[in-house]
Amino acid sequence: MYAEQLKASTRQCHDSVEQQFTRRLFSPKLTADDYASQLTTIRNIYALFCDFDFSAQLKPFAATIPTRLALLNKDLIHLPSPNESQSPAFAANNLTSLDHRVGGLYVLLGSAIGGKIIAKRLQQHAWVDADKHLNFFKFEHHDIAREWNSFKVSLDEHIEVHRADLATVTAGAKMTFGLFAQ
Ligand code: HEM
Repeated sequence: MYAEQLKASTRQCHDSVEQQFTRRLFSPKLTADDYASQLTTIRNIYALFCDFDFSAQLKPFAATIPTRLALLNKDLIHLPSPNESQSPAFAANNLTSLDHRVGGLYVLLGSAIGGKIIAKRLQQHAWVDADKHLNFFKFEHHDIAREWNSFKVSLDEHIEVHRADLATVTAGAKMTFGLFAQ
């Protein structure tokens, strides 16, 4: 499975983003402003990917991107408006090819796996209201493990049918992890 190769080659990126999220989001000092700024960064990444077109194999999975973007906006309505200059909108400068974007899709979909853990930890902050602030991370009504397993099968099909260049897919995944780390 190509996802296993991607997992191995991006493990360090994952672990550093996970550490950063842990430090920022689980800090007892997390404020609504900090949370709004982090969600805005994520929203800008999802907005960027909404404009990308994917192959027939991957389209059904990319369809969750606008759904999750709507959940981010739902949470942000209940949070202070962050200073947009601190959460810049991203340009597609580096995610130039379909192969790069496929790597990015792997990161966006995979990030849902840790979402429930993040939502649970965020509930420890007294000011966090699960109904108002955690819609994105909870991503309810989705069987994330099942969806992830079928994505991995379709990713293999996509890579074989379109003869995708795995080095470029990996580079796209690394760039996308980098966007989350900003
Ligand atoms: C506190 C933050 C996070 C936690 C606790 C967390 C936790 C996890 C866990 C438990 C898995 C499953 C690992 C496995 O099956 O072996 C996972 C997978 C994954 N996570 Fe995270 N994660 C976090 C943040 C993120 C973020 C911010 C991103 C993306 C920017 C991300 C992207 C991924 C990807 C792509 C996978 C799939 C790896 C694979 O099986 O190929 N994670 N995460």
